[in-house]
Amino acid sequence: TAAEKDGHDWFMRKEIFEQPRAVADSLLGRRNASGLLELDEMRLDDSELRDIDRIIIIAAGTSYYAGMVAKYAIEHWTRVSVEVELASEFRYRDPILTRSTLVVAISQSGETADTLQAIRHARTQRSKVLSICNTNGSTIPRESDGVIYTYAGPEIGVASTKGYVTQLVACYLLALYLAQVKGTFFGDEIHHVMDQLDEIPQHIESVLAEADQIYKIAREHVDATSVLFLGRHAGYPVALEGALKLKELAYIHAEGFAAGEIKHGPIALIEPGLPVFCIVPPRGRDHLHDKMLSGIQEVRTRGARTICLAELDDETIAPYADTLIGLPKVPVLLQPLVAVIPLQLFACELATVMGHDVDQPRNLAKSVTVE
Ligand code: G6P
Repeated sequence: TAAEKDGHDWFMRKEIFEQPRAVADSLLGRRNASGLLELDEMRLDDSELRDIDRIIIIAAGTSYYAGMVAKYAIEHWTRVSVEVELASEFRYRDPILTRSTLVVAISQSGETADTLQAIRHARTQRSKVLSICNTNGSTIPRESDGVIYTYAGPEIGVASTKGYVTQLVACYLLALYLAQVKGTFFGDEIHHVMDQLDEIPQHIESVLAEADQIYKIAREHVDATSVLFLGRHAGYPVALEGALKLKELAYIHAEGFAAGEIKHGPIALIEPGLPVFCIVPPRGRDHLHDKMLSGIQEVRTRGARTICLAELDDETIAPYADTLIGLPKVPVLLQPLVAVIPLQLFACELATVMGHDVDQPRNLAKSVTVE
């Protein structure tokens, strides 16, 4: 009923708007009185974590894209090398696992068969398994050595939204916790990032306040037959997630690419009028932003219609954007938390105007319990 959906037409739309609360809840109570990070249900002791020299993240679907973001954060903050692998591929390639490998399984439902079989395999190889999960008492956390729960609340819409952003939060917490344990980060650095995370709910609110602009853009794209998404650094997995949302909900061909890679092939796909979402990294010392600009220029010269997501006060982008969507100012590693929101709104609205069932897209299940 409409009441259950808080007056929204779909559970998914309701869940998109719950994201500020979901992120805040997932951050709550993670710092103790002396300011150190504490992960209650972690169940792995610090000495075990200190010995970890390699991390393999396994997940499926949207959770896999959260894992790709986690790799950027964990490697940057802890210097531990991270691989991200699709759960369905993992055990069949005879992966190298040792006692000092930490396997991190990300699953909103905690019941995905591919992910469950992957962690079972990891445990037979004596690796420690930590899960990131939104469902208390589900199978994957029960069969893990430790768990970080996300506090999205029940997610009904088949396409994951608040599940995804809270997974990102849990991944940042894990990365910061490892940095604390391994001593690659000092207390005030951890505080600094935690303070930035604490500001995310209000940043998401400010993106949601502009939902009507995104809906208008979506309605302009009812005839689109293909949409591309480009991103760099942490924006690359967001591009993949934006494309997945569109496939799942609007049944439109959509692909995400690393912006630097398009010149190596995908640029051949560009034709006049093709909509291309571009997730522009924040301006910084690393030239990522400028490289993104030249990528955008390349597709635009070939006729693409660019929809650019960039920092609100980034005036350098205007000449390259057919449509501009403003994002709050956050560090590049945290940008997925805000950049994904317009992409969720776009897919939800486009599917709605196309007449599709947003909460129950064709052929999909909320949780896939067969391999
Ligand atoms: C299904 C859902 C996806 C989800 C994936 C992984 O395919 O349709 O939305 O991302 O499973 O689910 P999990 O519960 O393991 O995160």
